[in-house]
Amino acid sequence: MMHQIKIATQKPYDVCLEEAILDKAGPLLLKQFAPCKLAVIADEAPWRHYGDRLLSSLTKAGFSVMHYIFQSNEAVKSFQTVEEILQLLAENELTRSDILLSFGGGITGDITGFCAATYLRGISYAHMPTTLLAMIDAAIGGKTAVNLKAGKNLAGAFWQPALVLCDPTLLATLPETVLADGLAEAVKYGILSDAALFDASGKGTMDLTDMIARCIQIKGNILALDERDQGARRLLNLGHTIAHAVEMCSAHTLSHGAAVSIGLVASAKLAYTLGVSATDLSGSIADTLTSHNLPVDLPYTVESLLPYILKDKKRTGNFIHLILPEAIGRCRIEPLPIEQLRAVLTDALLPGGCNGC
Ligand SMILES: NC(=O)c1ccc[n+]([C@@H]2O[C@H](COP(=O)([O-])OP(=O)(O)OC[C@H]3O[C@@H](n4cnc5c(N)ncnc54)[C@H](O)[C@@H]3O)[C@@H](O)[C@H]2O)c1
Repeated sequence: MMHQIKIATQKPYDVCLEEAILDKAGPLLLKQFAPCKLAVIADEAPWRHYGDRLLSSLTKAGFSVMHYIFQSNEAVKSFQTVEEILQLLAENELTRSDILLSFGGGITGDITGFCAATYLRGISYAHMPTTLLAMIDAAIGGKTAVNLKAGKNLAGAFWQPALVLCDPTLLATLPETVLADGLAEAVKYGILSDAALFDASGKGTMDLTDMIARCIQIKGNILALDERDQGARRLLNLGHTIAHAVEMCSAHTLSHGAAVSIGLVASAKLAYTLGVSATDLSGSIADTLTSHNLPVDLPYTVESLLPYILKDKKRTGNFIHLILPEAIGRCRIEPLPIEQLRAVLTDALLPGGCNGC
């Protein structure tokens, strides 16, 4: 049975989720687009496994297909790659009635979305995410981005896709560590707004497709309140302030999902220290994350994390806005004066606390 989840952004769109939906990509796109030129922007790894089936479905449906295949990594999430893709689109004379389709993880989706937002000042695009993280997060919500030398995702645009097609069977070839990165985000959604999802993800009792559907629905609910990251959407950054600092300290040797896992446990400790949660939730969160082989212990000192935390995008003036769990399934945004940050982090995250700092 196909899950069809409506994302109620200003320009609404559907996420269609079903096993083997890959073979229906052509007919499903035809429901929204007349046969036209379609450029697939694909990561080489999923393309190697599934590219033939995707091509067959698209061409049978009458699309005139071209493709740009690349090996995704953060270094190629760059303006150089964007320029190559835009050149390909221009050389093949794509117009505003033609479309792009991303086929890969979050890197592929972010680049494709950015190309769609900028080519001819904006053309339509669809996502076919191939990682768990992209299915439940990156492909939903219209954030597109490329990296600059100065940092990750520093250039981008909000540009919503026209359609998202999720096929959980594509995850069969995903390396285990990459799957775990996605599971960290799924646990995040549980802590944010669904205690049953949290429990089931720890016990492994939820069907993968149902879990993906639930996560997409939670993100969709938040996007309906705040598409442009000015209010409720910030809740999606639960665990990410510490995670970004941990990633930076590790010089990106720790994966994003591993860093999010550490950040989720840290946010529960901060919540308890600040009295936001009545009980210490960090133990049960850590148990759930370790059941997915994710790390939970902070590998760096508060002093080494602090400079990166202070650069966080959730800082406004003299306050940093922490996303903290009140209980499993309920979180809130807690402004903290910058001058209190060092002491609070030390109390919450270090055994023995502040020691008069
Ligand atoms: N736009 C957003 O809202 C948003 C949200 C979260 C993350 N992101 C971005 O997403 C990126 C991370 O995404 P990701 O974790 O999906 O990483 P990714 O796109 O790099 O994919 C991870 C790895 O999995 C491989 N792969 C992908 N699908 C596969 C498959 N089906 N079988 C085998 N191998 C496969 C890739 O080749 C890659 O090595 C980051 O750049 C991050 O900034 C964006």
